[in-house]
Amino acid sequence: MKTIYLIGFMGCGKSTIGEGIQQKYGKEFVDTDTLIVKTQKQEIKDIFRIEGEKAFREYETKALKEASSYAVVATGGGIIQKEENVRIMKENGVIIYLQTSFKEIVKRLENDELRPLWNKSKTEEMEKLFKEREFLYEDCADYTIITEEQTFEEILKRVRNIQS
Ligand code: S3P
Repeated sequence: MKTIYLIGFMGCGKSTIGEGIQQKYGKEFVDTDTLIVKTQKQEIKDIFRIEGEKAFREYETKALKEASSYAVVATGGGIIQKEENVRIMKENGVIIYLQTSFKEIVKRLENDELRPLWNKSKTEEMEKLFKEREFLYEDCADYTIITEEQTFEEILKRVRNIQS
């Protein structure tokens, strides 16, 4: 069975959907950020603060390779910035883009303290990043789910149907 990779901007619901799939359908699920925290024994925000984004991106590619044995993988929002990552996902599975509007993301991440890129930047900078990445997500996705048009249960079903 091919691995399902969930991609999309921070706050689009990749981890929540992945966890839902695990609970509802018993699929093995992992989040690349969780793998990084486990292997590096540091929180993501501390990796960014102490070692910088470049080191984080290297850990992220390693985590993506490790995650290839799982049925469903939630990736970090920046995974698509590296061609190598896109190649790994394409070779090993199916990519689903969870598309969410910037307005909705701002609402969801209002009180977020865990995402260093988000909470250390101005909203305008994040909107610029969102616009730059939108094309990359669209470009590499095999399927796109517009999260605001469907219920949580509908999204779970759609993802499962894509896999089976
Ligand atoms: C990042 C997104 C985060 C995490 C890190 C960097 C990004 O994951 O990997 O803070 O570059 O967009 P989520 O997309 O799960 O928030």
